[in-house]
Amino acid sequence: MPADGTRMTSPRPLERRQLTVMLCDLVGWSALSVQRDAEDLADVMQAYRGRCAAVIARHGGMVAQYVGDGILAYFGYPRAHEDDAERAIRAALEIAEAEQSPRVHIGIATGTVVVGHLSDAMTAPSDAASRQSWDEISAVGSAPNLASRLQGLADPGAVIVSEETRHLCGAMFEYHDLGHHALKGFGDSIQAWQVLREPAVRSRFHALRAPTLTPLVDRRAEVEQLRDLWERTKQGRGGAVLLTGEAGTGKSRLAEVVASEIAVRPSVRIWFYCSPNRQSTPLAPIVRQIFAGTGIAATDDDATKLEKLRRIVPIELGASNEAVPLLAHLLSIRYEHAYPSLNMSPQRLRRRLFDALMQLLEAHATRAPLLLVVEDLHWLDPSSYEFMGMLLDRVERLHMLVVLTARPEFQAHWDDHPALVHLPLGPLERGDAIAMIKILCGDTAIPPRTVDHIADKTDGLPLFIEDLTRDVLETVEASGEPNAALASSIPATLNDSLMSRLDRLGSAKSVAQTAAVIGREFAYELLARVAELPDDELTDAVDRLVAARLLVRRRAAQVLTYAFQHALVRDAAYSSLLRKAQEALHAKVARVMTQDFPDIAELQPELVAHHLQAARDPDRAADYLVKAAKLSARRSGFVEAIAQLQGALKLLAGRDPSPERMRRELRIHLALGGVYAEYRGFSSQACGDAYRRALELCRQLGDAPEVFAVLSGLGSFEITRANFAACRALGAECLERAAKQTSRPPFIMGHLLLGGTAFLTAQFADARRHLDAALADYDADRKTGRRAQVLYVQDQKSTALCYLGLIDTIMGDVAEGRRAAERGLEHSRTLGGPHTINFSQTYLAAVLHIAGDYDEALQRADEALELAREQGFATWIGVSQIIRGYALVHAGQAAEGLGEIVAGMKAHSEMDAIAYRAFGLALFAGASMFAGAADDAERALDEALTLVSRTGENFYLAELWRLRGELLATRNDAPAAEAALRRAIDVAREQGAELFEERSTASLKALQRKKPVDSR
Ligand SMILES: Nc1ncnc2c1ncn2[C@@H]1O[C@H](COP(=O)(O)OP(=O)(O)O)[C@@H](O)[C@H]1O
Ligand SMILES: [Mg+2]
Repeated sequence: MPADGTRMTSPRPLERRQLTVMLCDLVGWSALSVQRDAEDLADVMQAYRGRCAAVIARHGGMVAQYVGDGILAYFGYPRAHEDDAERAIRAALEIAEAEQSPRVHIGIATGTVVVGHLSDAMTAPSDAASRQSWDEISAVGSAPNLASRLQGLADPGAVIVSEETRHLCGAMFEYHDLGHHALKGFGDSIQAWQVLREPAVRSRFHALRAPTLTPLVDRRAEVEQLRDLWERTKQGRGGAVLLTGEAGTGKSRLAEVVASEIAVRPSVRIWFYCSPNRQSTPLAPIVRQIFAGTGIAATDDDATKLEKLRRIVPIELGASNEAVPLLAHLLSIRYEHAYPSLNMSPQRLRRRLFDALMQLLEAHATRAPLLLVVEDLHWLDPSSYEFMGMLLDRVERLHMLVVLTARPEFQAHWDDHPALVHLPLGPLERGDAIAMIKILCGDTAIPPRTVDHIADKTDGLPLFIEDLTRDVLETVEASGEPNAALASSIPATLNDSLMSRLDRLGSAKSVAQTAAVIGREFAYELLARVAELPDDELTDAVDRLVAARLLVRRRAAQVLTYAFQHALVRDAAYSSLLRKAQEALHAKVARVMTQDFPDIAELQPELVAHHLQAARDPDRAADYLVKAAKLSARRSGFVEAIAQLQGALKLLAGRDPSPERMRRELRIHLALGGVYAEYRGFSSQACGDAYRRALELCRQLGDAPEVFAVLSGLGSFEITRANFAACRALGAECLERAAKQTSRPPFIMGHLLLGGTAFLTAQFADARRHLDAALADYDADRKTGRRAQVLYVQDQKSTALCYLGLIDTIMGDVAEGRRAAERGLEHSRTLGGPHTINFSQTYLAAVLHIAGDYDEALQRADEALELAREQGFATWIGVSQIIRGYALVHAGQAAEGLGEIVAGMKAHSEMDAIAYRAFGLALFAGASMFAGAADDAERALDEALTLVSRTGENFYLAELWRLRGELLATRNDAPAAEAALRRAIDVAREQGAELFEERSTASLKALQRKKPVDSR
């Protein structure tokens, strides 16, 4: 029986037809048939035939014959569709994908055949037995043979098509050119193409509209220019073009012209779509494209998801390429079971991800010239925006044309990039508008007056022209007389004409309205859950909206998806709802998303937030924005995360003060503090402000469990700003509150804040007590540190050990100090977080420097600097550069060393950090003296002494005085030098800084030895 269900009850006469023939065969079937039992084989065969027949039928083909393991199918008979060749390819791809063991190989060819019942007896057999032979439809012509030859060329899993089939499908698929082949019976130059895939994201135009597009009117100059750009691109001189114009002027249409008429023949085409609801989602259009392109589904397990990701990474990039794990991270897919964990700072992750995305695009562009269309830039998120800038920098050296579309208000800092051509689109001229109206009217007679009228009203805006003309046509068709349109008044605005067309659709109108609440683009399944209509009613309504060209089907999407034909169509449908109804529907969409689509709630919380906000549920909207922000930060989208958190705060701003509201606000500020710490460092003002506000809220609430995280965050800010009194108070508060509960981490936080402050203010014994206590608590709590590592905060045990390393060294036990710092680094390495490791490396270098071991300090500082640069840790770049610079000067490379110190100081102050600035100045002064630049040294020491007298950061004070003494000694001012050295000795002794005391004492002795000689 023909698989499309049209059982033929009578013989079909022979007819000439264009037919697409598909031959599908199992790979290695004969081998299998020797190995396996016949009964098993029969089962395998039956299941295989059943599956294939179902696929073929679904795509509108018929199974003509089974020959052993071969299946012969026809597309275009008994019923012809305009896209039979496409249908055949789609069915073949689906079969090849589904049949994995054994695999299949498939050949497809199109040609003119004579088809029908070839039986000699055309007398209708009446008995059932001979019905079998009626179903034996044969096609005679070259296509069946060619299909079979091509099938013979196909590797397991491959689909090979003839030139003619490929030609019919135009740009619908991506192919691999197999070149020309000698095929038995066909001569020696038969072109064969392997179908690779259906491009996953195709323009919305391809979705059902393609056959009914109004032929392009005017835009000749633009098309010419685009054609030139493509010609250059093919020669390896790529570029970018920005099409700007009001909504509905035809930007997308021109981009589509490039895709379907200019960038034809071997080329790769990729579409990125921006959307207003995802403007603060990092890399939103790219993420969306990857999901669509890979077909990753919520229900796939991790291994399947990774496998699908792997398929879009070109093999040229090599197996060791990080692209797969980086993309997996971006899409929140677990990859750690298959790839080493991407253990790196968010900054570095972002760079690597951008590099990987660039590589992906570049690799595609080396296979064939690449057309990348980025639609609706006015809705671009900040990360994609940055990525686009990067793309512009490289595009001229690639076989790549980037076509960007945006409304006129869009502005970018790369606006005037030399690689970017601006192409503003204005309205159509009247003559062209009239031509367009006439084309749209086709055979329907419309009085010239009406045509003029439409042209007057629509001001050359193509979208409006199309819509209003359709509106008029529908009116005329409904009444059957050409003057009907003018008799009933013609709508004056696009919105009015859209509404009048919607109204004509009766019950489908409310479906359009519901869909509009979901958004420009929506999955059918989601619409179904929200609309709650019987399935056939809903399908019918959607079909009618598609027929009216208000909706288009997104064919390439993996789940059945529709989009409004234009953003303005969606807006019109939406605004036709009363506010109350909008709100109720938004609430429903949010409910359905959270209850039935956990994937959306998990991976796109910003969408849920959007609906909750529109449903006037700001509290829950804020909660979802916080979720979205955390996801953004995980994807290194800090700018987006901050925007989302600030959006959440704004939502709460209008709320009555209540403990609930305060708790929410507290969570937002705490998250904001964390994001800023990661993005700009703890020392940034914004970070401090967020934590400070969070602490106020904690105090008002009295019992917030978040208080410890807040105290620790704010303490970290204060300590980097050298606000020691403030930090001490916070540490004390932390311990006080800790005493009222039982878990350890709050104690560790409190002791660390106090220990760090005490160290920097030179209360070494006190510092040691707190740090030892922190270590004891850390070791007593098996959970701390091990798992719950926050990336940008260094581990607490490592921190304590590194501080102790400095303290022991300064207090004179150099060997123990070094051991402690080394243990700190070791511990960091076992944890593996790059930030913690980098912190420990830098501290170890500082310990070695203070101990006077400059050679080793240089090695450690080099290591630290390398990692810091690689990961983009600005804090550690500065400090390790300073230590490294000093060692270089000490080793005789004065100019390079001093330059390095200056650069390090600059990096440090750009972070707005104050703590350790005096230390840096001391190193600069020492190095300057070494290099003979006494005046520079003097200035630096003055600044340092003034600074520490204000802040109380005294841990290096003795050294500052010693350096000043030595500077004065070189200027032969012995009495002043001696006074300074004595001051250094006093300070050191009082602090218990034995190392510094010894050093100053030695300097003093040297001065005294020299004195008699000098004074002679
Ligand atoms: N020059 C043109 N000739 C024919 N139809 C056009 C032309 N420009 C635009 N259109 C049609 O007008 C409608 C709106 O155009 P579109 O490209 O979606 O606008 P935009 O992207 O600028 O908002 C589309 O249906 C499109 O096919
Ligand atoms: Mg558009």
